[in-house]
Amino acid sequence: MELLKKKIIEDGRILEGNILKVDNFLNHQLDIGLLNEIGKEFKKIFSHKKITKILTAEVSGIAIAAIAAQYFDVPVVFAKKTESKNLDQETYEGSVYSYTKGKYYKIRVSKRYISKEDHILIIDDFLANGQAILGLKEVVDASGANLVAAGVVIEKGFQEGGKILREANLEVHALATIDAMVNGKVVFRNHEQY
Ligand code: G4P
Ligand code: NA
Ligand code: NA
Repeated sequence: MELLKKKIIEDGRILEGNILKVDNFLNHQLDIGLLNEIGKEFKKIFSHKKITKILTAEVSGIAIAAIAAQYFDVPVVFAKKTESKNLDQETYEGSVYSYTKGKYYKIRVSKRYISKEDHILIIDDFLANGQAILGLKEVVDASGANLVAAGVVIEKGFQEGGKILREANLEVHALATIDAMVNGKVVFRNHEQY
């Protein structure tokens, strides 16, 4: 997605440890015009699929999924990372390994909001190690719903996540795939879809 790549080049900041900061438009301040274009692009990619619900994880996935959902005309459900009193006792769970914390944490979705009749599209901001999406996949699998595909805004193609998910037979599309970050510059993969 050319507009997204341009934004990453103009406003992204590369931090130590191969971290791409996109706080200016995606992870802190939100560029709603760009998010709308991202939503339209996801709809274009998945237009031939039957989708009844979009699933993401709090926090960063919510804004992206919510705006995209307008083009799919389906609800968004976000998995919660903290156990709250208000969350139903009956939940589908997934576990997510955090490399930064070195431990697993749980994500949960109320059984009220996913059922085996659903056709689920997962949407998230980053695909890096793939652990977040694997956790979401666990939630969908537990519910018996059909996991249609996953769409991510930015895939870090030099990390293992994409390979792990595709080897698990999940269809994954990224709007921008980064192959490397060298000398303060982002190197994009030529073909966005494959
Ligand atoms: P993954 O499993 O989601 O692929 O990611 P990983 O464990 O490698 O990374 C942990 C968190 O860091 C994830 O957010 C992921 O989206 C984010 N992340 C990974 N690489 C980058 C990067 O280069 N830039 C930025 N900005 N974020 C990155 P999360 O734990 O799901 O947190 P949240 O932000 O959704 O609350
Ligand atoms: Na995320
Ligand atoms: Na994040």
